[in-house]
Parts: sequence; structure tokens; C-alpha cells
Amino acid sequence: MPIHGLTPILFCCMWRILTPVSCHPQHSPCQLKQRTAHCNNGKLSSVPVGLPDNMEELQLNYNQIQTLQDSSLLHYPSLNTLSLACNILERLESNTFQGLTLLESLNLANNNLNIGYQETSLALKKLPALRVLDLSENKLDDEMIATLLENLTSLEYLNLSGNLLRRLDETSFRDLHHLKELDLQRNIMFEIDSAFDSNSKLKRLNLAYNYLPCLTDFHMTQLEVLNVSHNLIEWFISRQDLNDTFQLETLDLSENRLLFFPFLPSHSHLTNLYLSHNTLRFYEHLAENATYPNSTTVEFYNMKKYWKNVTAQLWDDSYHGDISSLETLDLRGNQVKGFPHGFIQKMPVLSRLRMCTNCLQTLNLTSEQFSGSLYELDISNNRLSQFLADEATLTTLSNLTYLNLSLNDLNQVPVGLFSSLPNIRSVDLSYNSIDICLPEETEISAHNESTCVDWRNIASLRQLYLKGCSLKRLPTSAFMGLSLTHLELNDNPGLILQETLQRLSTTLQHLGLGNTRVRDLDFSHFQSLRFLNISRNSLAHLPPSLLNIDLKVLDLRDNSLSTIPLSQADALAAKLQTIFLTGNPFNCCEIEWFRTFESTKTIYMVGQSDIECQDVFLGRHRVKHFQDVLCMEEQGESILWYILLFVPLCLFIVGTAIIFLLTFKPQMLKKSIKKKSLKKSYY
Ligand SMILES: *[C@@H]1O[C@H](CO)[C@@H](O)[C@H](O)[C@H]1NC(C)=O
Ligand SMILES: *[C@@H]1O[C@H](CO)[C@@H](O)[C@H](O)[C@H]1NC(C)=O
Ligand SMILES: *[C@@H]1O[C@H](CO)[C@@H](O)[C@H](O)[C@H]1NC(C)=O
Ligand SMILES: *[C@@H]1O[C@H](CO)[C@@H](O)[C@H](O)[C@H]1NC(C)=O
Ligand SMILES: *[C@@H]1O[C@H](CO)[C@@H](O)[C@H](O)[C@H]1NC(C)=O
Ligand SMILES: *[C@@H]1O[C@H](CO)[C@@H](O)[C@H](O)[C@H]1NC(C)=O
Ligand SMILES: *[C@@H]1O[C@H](CO)[C@@H](O)[C@H](O)[C@H]1NC(C)=O
Ligand SMILES: *[C@@H]1O[C@H](CO)[C@@H](O)[C@H](O)[C@H]1NC(C)=O
Ligand SMILES: *[C@@H]1O[C@H](CO)[C@@H](O)[C@H](O)[C@H]1NC(C)=O
Ligand SMILES: *[C@@H]1O[C@H](CO)[C@@H](O)[C@H](O)[C@H]1NC(C)=O
Ligand SMILES: *[C@@H]1O[C@H](CO)[C@@H](O)[C@H](O)[C@H]1NC(C)=O
Ligand SMILES: *[C@@H]1O[C@H](CO)[C@@H](O)[C@H](O)[C@H]1NC(C)=O
Repeated sequence: MPIHGLTPILFCCMWRILTPVSCHPQHSPCQLKQRTAHCNNGKLSSVPVGLPDNMEELQLNYNQIQTLQDSSLLHYPSLNTLSLACNILERLESNTFQGLTLLESLNLANNNLNIGYQETSLALKKLPALRVLDLSENKLDDEMIATLLENLTSLEYLNLSGNLLRRLDETSFRDLHHLKELDLQRNIMFEIDSAFDSNSKLKRLNLAYNYLPCLTDFHMTQLEVLNVSHNLIEWFISRQDLNDTFQLETLDLSENRLLFFPFLPSHSHLTNLYLSHNTLRFYEHLAENATYPNSTTVEFYNMKKYWKNVTAQLWDDSYHGDISSLETLDLRGNQVKGFPHGFIQKMPVLSRLRMCTNCLQTLNLTSEQFSGSLYELDISNNRLSQFLADEATLTTLSNLTYLNLSLNDLNQVPVGLFSSLPNIRSVDLSYNSIDICLPEETEISAHNESTCVDWRNIASLRQLYLKGCSLKRLPTSAFMGLSLTHLELNDNPGLILQETLQRLSTTLQHLGLGNTRVRDLDFSHFQSLRFLNISRNSLAHLPPSLLNIDLKVLDLRDNSLSTIPLSQADALAAKLQTIFLTGNPFNCCEIEWFRTFESTKTIYMVGQSDIECQDVFLGRHRVKHFQDVLCMEEQGESILWYILLFVPLCLFIVGTAIIFLLTFKPQMLKKSIKKKSLKKSYY
């Protein structure tokens, strides 16, 4: 009997489930690793007792501790790190840290210290070695923070992000003489007045996500990183009369309201300047115009006292300060129409220039004199109709690796653009009207420009993006001598490829042929291909050659597939990681492929619940929820059969009944009609 076989197994399992519970009834919520106790997520309402008293680190995040009592930490005098983030802490009793002379790092983030901040401040003052303090997300306002920070002279790292600070002045951080890093992001600050004069060691300052309208009189020469992104900054003016070199390396002013390029220090090591998403442009053309005065006095007020006048040379672009060390200049999403004369030349080590989404119409690389260190040049989404460079200039750009010219109005490029750039690796020419040169073609116009591009034999080129270029024919030689790994030809409807692609079959890993109307492609030689986009091509069948290659991502959206034969689905499911299938007119009665993909855990069907199919009556269903009872099965046992048999039978019976009535009982019918009409005439 099978029972005999089952009993021991059942017994075994129950024993296994029960033992751990009965053996350790009071399981400690902490995990000990050397001298660290991890007691996170333990629903604790107090500091656990009974841990070894030589603990050096105690992690108590995500618990429910409301108060730290004077006695809470008495047993752990060796603590140097204590973390209580994400509790419901309201206060630390004033002697909590008595004897914890070694504590260096204290994390109190995400609590309610606004309630008991006064008592807490007394506790903090008893930590002579405290270097790192996190008070972020505690609903603390200006006054509470001033109280909490009083006399914390040893602090080096302070996090006050996500509180309710409104304005800072000279008293705010007065005692923090050793402060090196200060995070003030996500407060509601609108004014800073001489707040950092006592913090001569401050190197990193984050003021992102506040409401600051300007930063004038910037003179923190010791600062290395300043982040003022996501504010309302209209003016950034550094003090121009200082002879010291500013240590500033990174300045982030992105997502503000700058109209002018910031007035940077005259001497600095500024390396990274982020100015994306402002409204700035250059005004050099106004400098020569007598109707506009060269300098303007800007008045700045603050709450306490009438502040000062700053005279700015508005149109004089030499006021941009020292940009000679810039390596990254991010100007995405501004209104730059052109650079002032000599501006690019002032940046001899510029490596990345990001100009995406501006208003450039012309770019003459020869006259701008870009340096040989240029590595990435992104001028996408401008209004470029002229992109000029002579051959000598191109040859000096020996480090240029990424070039993005997509979304412009280009129909010409400099002759030899690619053949002269020895290290070019990635080129994006999408959404321009550029053609590909035929072998014999050399239409060179007046400025040595060509209406077609030629990248034959550019050995360094790996990634080529030619989406939406209205390409019609690709000459067989188009990709000669290339080792492309990425090729995007999406959105070129009517593209004729012939054998062109076969040259790339050994190297190509990523191929975009969406919305090209290509068909009958043979992929069997593309042994390196991992990503293939053949969406929007009206394909009625899956190209069989796909099954022999090791694809990981396949986009088949918006084609005319009615099914995927089970053998193909099995083969794909074994290799693919991601598949896109929405927008095909799948037949609801042939959706075994769906169950195959659904049950294969290693494959991700993008938009799985949006994949639809059509039933025999052309009704649309979500494949995921479709019950195929309406479908004919192979054995012929299906409701459809019954319906098909039943409907004619019913019709036959109804039909005979009517005929019977009409022939044999016409009188009855007449009578009833008469009755009705007679009744009516009574009215
Ligand atoms: C801060 O330190 C100063 C000087 O050591 C002392 O006079 C003052 O009382 C301290 N303040 C607090 C609140 O402990
Ligand atoms: C400060 O705290 C916030 C929120 O707790 C966190 O996101 C941020 O990374 C912290 N800043 C630093 C410099 O660690
Ligand atoms: C500035 O701070 C914002 C918000 O925290 C962050 O997203 C951004 O990366 C920072 N900028 C730099 C240059 O680190
Ligand atoms: C800066 O240097 C110039 C000349 O070298 C001098 O006249 C000026 O007083 C100096 N300014 C400061 C603030 O030291
Ligand atoms: C100066 O500006 C006025 C008004 O914008 C314009 O009409 C004029 O042509 C400009 N002159 C020069 C020399 O740019
Ligand atoms: C403005 O300054 C520029 C150079 O800084 C100078 O060439 C020009 O003549 C000045 N224009 C006026 C109106 O002062
Ligand atoms: C600032 O300039 C205005 C005129 O431009 C003047 O009336 C005012 O007195 C100046 N204020 C100071 C503090 O210099
Ligand atoms: C591009 O700049 C060079 C050098 O300044 C100049 O000789 C050439 O004429 C410019 N090209 C055009 C079309 O303006
Ligand atoms: C080329 O650019 C890379 C990346 O920015 C940089 O590391 C390298 O030093 C540059 N080379 C030259 C010669 O400028
Ligand atoms: C080129 O720029 C466009 C628009 O900014 C962007 O969508 C695209 O991803 C970029 N191309 C590459 C290869 O990074
Ligand atoms: C065009 O390029 C050729 C050599 O590539 C050169 O001799 C000729 O001067 C250039 N013409 C112009 C107008 O730049
Ligand atoms: C495939 O190409 C189509 C047509 O251009 C595009 O809309 C889609 O985003 C591409 N798919 C992927 C996964 O990139």
C-alpha cells in the first residue's frame, strides 16, 4: 500500500519544520559579525540588552524605538558607530551618551527629533569624538538645528537633508570648525547670508532642491564640490577681486533659471561644470551694440539688511572667469545659438561637451578650435544645418570617440569626416537627411562638404546610428572594412539592404531594423547577434534563421504574426531573455507559444498582459486571460463543434415550426390578427 511509503516522509518533514522553533524559542533579533551587531528590521522598541559589551558597531535601523534612555547604551562603552535610521525616535535623554567617548558616527536619519530636540542637543554635546552625524529627514527647522549643532566642534560630515531649513546665516554653523562635508539638499531654503565663514575646511556642499534665487559674492575658495542644482538660481556671481585660486572642481547649477553663463572665479581648477536645463545663452553680439550698455548694476536684497549692488559686465563674455581646466561642460537644454569668439579655445583640456537641445544652427570646428582632448561631442537636437571642419582640424581631434549629431537639419557633412578621426567609435546621425555614398560618388560642394557620408574602412567605428534618415538604398559596399557591433537602421521605411549587412555578420551584436519593411533576411551567419529589432515590418512569419543564433533580446512588435509555431517558441524560449510581442494579430486558437514563454522563467515578455489575440468571430482578447474553450482541439471535442452542430439544428426546428403554422393553421393566425385590429378600433 502506498501509505507505508508516505508516512516516514511526512514525519520527517514535520520534524524538520518543528525543530528550529523548539530549539531556539527566544531567537535574538541581532546578527553578530565580529564586533558589529545588525539588529535592523526587528520591530524593537528599545536597544537590545545582552549583546557582548565590546561591541563597536550597532545597527538598529527600521525599528520602533521612540526614546533613547540614559541607560540604553550603558553596556556598550566601546561603540564607535551607532545607526538608528528610520525609527520613531523623538528624543535622546541627556545622558544617553555618557561614557561613549569613542563614538564617531551617529545616524539618526528619518526620525521625529523635532519633538525632543532640546534634550537631544544636550545628549549630543557629550560626544567628544563625534565626526559623522546624520540628522536628515527629521522635520527640523532653523532654530532646532542651531540648537542641535551648538558646540559640536568635532563634526566633519553632517547631513541635514530633507528638513525644514529656510535661511542660513553666520550663526547656523558657527561652531563647526572642522566641517568637511555638508548636505543641505531638499530643504526649503531661500536665503544664505555669510553662513559658511567659520567653516574653513568645508570641501563639499550640497544645496540641491531648495528655493535659492541667486548665489552672489561667492568666495568659498576652499570648496571643491558645490551642488546647487534644482533651485531657482538666476545669478551665480563669484567675487572677482580675490587673487587666491579657488579649489572648486565641480559646480552643478543644472535645473535652475540662469540667463547668463555663471560668473566664475578668475582663478580656479574647475573641472566639471553642469549647466543643463537653464535658459542661458551668450550675448557677445550685444557688446558691440551701442544701444546696450556694457555693464549693468544688479541689486540684491536680503531679509536682514539692504545687501549690495553687484556690477556685472553683462555682455562681455570674458567675464566667464577661469575655464582653463574644464574637462566636462554640460549645457544640455539651454538656448545657446553660438559660442562667443574664442570661448572653446579657452578650454584646452575640454573632453566632454554636451550641447543637446540648444539652438545651434552652425558649428565650424575649424574656427572654434577644439582641442585634441575632445572625447565626446553631443550636438543632438539642435537646428544644425551646417557642420564644418577642414581636414587638418579633424586630424587634430585625435581623441574624439563619441559624436552625436542626431535630430538636426544636416544634409551635408565635411568630406572625410570619419576617415580623419582616428579614434571615432560611436556616431549618431539619426534623423538627418544624410545619404550614404556610392563607391564612385564624390559630390563635393564649395566648402569641401559632401551630401553623402562615407565610412568605409574606418577601423575604429563600432556603433552607428542611422535612424530615420530616409535611407532608401544601401550600396553593397556601405559597410566595407567596418567592425560594427551596433547598427541602428530603424525608421527608414522602404530600405533596400540586399547583401550589405552580410559584411557585418561576424561582429554585429545589436541590430535595429524596426519599421524598415525588410523581409526575408537571413540571419544564420550573424553568430554574435544578441539584440534584434524587427518590429513594424508586417512580418507574417518568424524568419527561421533566427532560431540558429544566440539572441537575447528580440523585438517583434507590430507585425502580422498570427502564431509562433511551438517548435520555434521552444527554441526561442531556451535562449531569449526579453521578447516584445504586442501589436500582432495573433490567433486565439493557436497560442500555445504564449504558455511556453509564460512558463519559461528565464524569459521576460514585455507588456505580457497587453498581448492580444483574435477569436474566430474577430473579437479581441488578452492572451493571458483567454480560455481556449471556443477553439477546436485536435480530438474535435470542443464547444465550437457543438455550436456548429446545434445552430443549424435549431434553425431547422424553428423553420419547420413556422412553415407548419403557416400552412396548417392560417385561420388561427388571421383570427388573432383580426382580434387585435378590432380591439384597436374601439378607441
Ligand atoms: C558651548 O561652549 C562654550 C565654550 O566652551 C560654553 O561657554 C557654552 O556654555 C557651551 N554651550 C552649551 C549649550 O553647552
Ligand atoms: C543624506 O541623507 C539623505 C537622506 O537620508 C541621503 O539620500 C543622502 O545620500 C545623504 N547624503 C550623504 C552625503 O550621504
Ligand atoms: C547634485 O545633487 C543632485 C541631487 O542630489 C544629484 O542628482 C546630482 O547628481 C548632484 N550633482 C553632482 C555633480 O554630483
Ligand atoms: C590682488 O592683486 C592685485 C595686484 O596683484 C592687488 O592690487 C589687489 O589688491 C589684490 N587683491 C586682493 C584682494 O588681495
Ligand atoms: C543693435 O540692436 C538693435 C536693436 O536690437 C538692432 O536693431 C541693431 O541692428 C543692433 N546693431 C548692431 C551693430 O548689432
Ligand atoms: C563693450 O565692451 C566691449 C569689449 O569688452 C567693447 O569692445 C565695446 O566697445 C564696449 N561697448 C560699449 C558700448 O561700451
Ligand atoms: C545701488 O545702486 C542703486 C542705483 O543703481 C543706488 O540707488 C543704490 O544706492 C546703490 N546701493 C548701494 C548699497 O550701493
Ligand atoms: C570655418 O572657419 C574657418 C576658420 O576660421 C574659415 O576659414 C572658414 O571660412 C569657416 N567656414 C565657413 C563656411 O564659414
Ligand atoms: C582622451 O579622452 C579620455 C576620456 O576623457 C581621457 O582619459 C584621455 O586622457 C584623453 N586623451 C588625450 C590625449 O587627451
Ligand atoms: C544622441 O542624442 C539623442 C538625443 O539627445 C539621444 O536620444 C541618443 O540616445 C543619443 N545617441 C547616442 C548613441 O547616445
Ligand atoms: C578641399 O579639400 C582639398 C583636399 O582635400 C583641398 O586641396 C582644397 O583646398 C579644399 N577646398 C576648400 C574650399 O577647402
Ligand atoms: C524597435 O524599433 C522601433 C521602430 O523604430 C522602435 O519604436 C522601438 O522602440 C525599437 N525597439 C527597441 C526595443 O528598441
